[in-house]
Amino acid sequence: MFERKPLASMAAEAGSEKRLRRVLGAAELTGLGIGAIVGAGIFVSTGAAARDIAGPALMLSFVVAGVTCVFVALCYAELASMTPVTGSAYTYAYATLGEFPAWIVGWILVLGYGVSAAVVAQGVSRYFQDLLGVFGLKLPAALTSAAMDYNPELGRLVATGKLLDLPAVLVTAIVTVILIVGIRESARFNALMVVVKLGVIMFVIGVGALYVHTEAWTPFAPYGLTGINLFGKTISGQHDAGGQPLGMLAGAAIAFFAYIGFDCVATYSEEARRPRRDVPAGIIASLSICTVLYIGVTAVLTGMAPYKTLDTQAPISSAFVQAGLPWARVLISTGALTGIVSVVLVSILTQTRILLAMARDGLIPGGLFGALHERFRTPWKATLFAGIFVAVTSSLLPIGVLIGLVSIGILLVYLIVCVGVMVMRRIQPEAERTFRVPFMPVVPLLGVASCLLLMLSLPFEHWLRLSVWLLLGLAIYFGYGRRNSALSLIPAATAAASLERE
Ligand code: ALA
Repeated sequence: MFERKPLASMAAEAGSEKRLRRVLGAAELTGLGIGAIVGAGIFVSTGAAARDIAGPALMLSFVVAGVTCVFVALCYAELASMTPVTGSAYTYAYATLGEFPAWIVGWILVLGYGVSAAVVAQGVSRYFQDLLGVFGLKLPAALTSAAMDYNPELGRLVATGKLLDLPAVLVTAIVTVILIVGIRESARFNALMVVVKLGVIMFVIGVGALYVHTEAWTPFAPYGLTGINLFGKTISGQHDAGGQPLGMLAGAAIAFFAYIGFDCVATYSEEARRPRRDVPAGIIASLSICTVLYIGVTAVLTGMAPYKTLDTQAPISSAFVQAGLPWARVLISTGALTGIVSVVLVSILTQTRILLAMARDGLIPGGLFGALHERFRTPWKATLFAGIFVAVTSSLLPIGVLIGLVSIGILLVYLIVCVGVMVMRRIQPEAERTFRVPFMPVVPLLGVASCLLLMLSLPFEHWLRLSVWLLLGLAIYFGYGRRNSALSLIPAATAAASLERE
């Protein structure tokens, strides 16, 4: 269970015939990173986060979440510079901590990216419906949102009377087809959307700054600067009637969702032309650009309208309408819509690459998740599976529940990556690294501490939901993965010999 996958066998795999196409350069990787990062987090969840959780201090929340991600990104970059194959954190955990921890990481990532794609598909739907509203159109009520919602008073999910979120399902279907057709086409489609959303973000910051009233930033932190709870008990800061933590740190846990995606770049190592150089560069460049933009957008948003009046569905376009710029609504909603579509694309892409890596290792059925399309050379069955998972999830569950679930899962994975980089330095001190984390072990330790802090700033229900997913994962691992693992089929002596050669 704790046997590690040798780096040499990864390098051998990377050279074999049945691999993905190496077509991505540093700029495309950075574009895919931004494509994965900027989405529903900044365009949708900032409204509710500023209004109900952090107030104008949400800008500080974005700084805290951004700094946490920088620590983690540096760790990702070092591990990516050592393992030029697909799978990202899953692959790193396999090389450093062993098969069972790798399974846990892979299993959480499959959930994280699938659910994240469902959140963003719902985000697309919100801005799409906002645009329809501009033209006086409306979808039939039964097709406008998820079939269930969370009722904080009852503390459980209740039926909304709706059938499904039709725009979310349609966008998922279109993206799934594009992904099956090919990675190069996907990268091009993504590049176009990245340009549009960066344009809109620049517009929001540039024009919005002219309409900022600094008095809107006072009080700066109406809910306080903390918001930490330990398994349901508030240990620092305020909480709402339902016991959910409030304050700047609680806001950081929500803001964190907006940064998820920089790690996607690491999953494309196998499709990068120079993975050891360009993947670390792509991770760090995309994260740095987004951090600066996010702080700008939040400062403008909370400065344009009093935080209490912010909209929770399409907050940025509504702030412009409130500021007396109704014409900006179409522009911003179109840009947000386009931008968020690219996150759906990259999230599903990432989910399928992790499924592929796990299938190659024999931990999940290879016939379904590992099969490459004859002509397109993409894992088409896994992509179809992921598309259906996302469509069903976005039709069933509400955005608040999904965001918390993604964040807690991905934070746990990031924490494991920070541990992984320290373990790798110990077990493979001589292995080739084109990028090295500075100030070892301070950076990964700070990464571990800050991920843990954000996990503790999330409501307790998310811990419970993650535990259920992990229990399901354990059942599959012991029922299937452990018996079919490719690593367990290599005689121990061969594995040990190849470790020594490294
Ligand atoms: N960071 C991505 C978003 O905000 C998941 O949509």
